[in-house]
Amino acid sequence: MKKIIIAIDGFSACGKSTTAKEVAKILGYRYIDSGAMYRAVTLYFLDHHISLTNPKEIQLALDEIKISFKVNAKGKTETFLNNLNVEKEIRDMRVSEFVSQVSTLAVVRHAMVDQQRRMGKERSIVMDGRDIGTVVFPEAELKVFLTADILVRAFRRQKELLDRDEMIDIDTIVGNLLKRDEIDSTRQESPLRKAAGATEIDTTAITIDEEVDEVVRLAVGKMLTKKK
Ligand code: DC
Repeated sequence: MKKIIIAIDGFSACGKSTTAKEVAKILGYRYIDSGAMYRAVTLYFLDHHISLTNPKEIQLALDEIKISFKVNAKGKTETFLNNLNVEKEIRDMRVSEFVSQVSTLAVVRHAMVDQQRRMGKERSIVMDGRDIGTVVFPEAELKVFLTADILVRAFRRQKELLDRDEMIDIDTIVGNLLKRDEIDSTRQESPLRKAAGATEIDTTAITIDEEVDEVVRLAVGKMLTKKK
């Protein structure tokens, strides 16, 4: 079957990464979590006290940042920042609260998009994020846009945090998600939008398995009909 690019976009906590990972596993594709890249940059900025109003400092910091992904013994992809495993740290609330601001910066986005495009050269990838179908791979054969009710999203995120022994009340999580939705969809540089030609899937009342089945079904359809 022909190799394709699968772009999965949507708001935070709509099940993008869970779906993307599972779809990649089923198809034998590579999974790239583009949000993890913005989170890794944010972690670096926080740890090095980089001022978001100082372009020179930001550029120097970006020059120092190397992000990579490695699959661990359990088959899970983990994020590395300058060769250090930061998979757990980049999911902390302190990063979640700051990442949307960092991702509004054009210079940060350009650096990430360049790297993401290089990762997609060989195709056979599933990448999830906010601008994958609109900016990174507008030519992707399959573009999916996920949505879900805000409370359902908040409970999903709360469960994820609980699994990591972080107890955050639901109102705080709703507040964080709404704030990020607002920043992500109103920013000047590549705002979150449903890409032209994307298939929208509302995940509010469907299970992850149903969500995965639907994306795999759409992907196989694209693989079979791809010309070259
Ligand atoms: O998918 P996530 O929640 O881990 O993403 C974290 C943040 O990164 C999100 O608030 C917006 C930003 N992001 C982005 O601007 N563009 C992407 N392609 C992926 C994430």
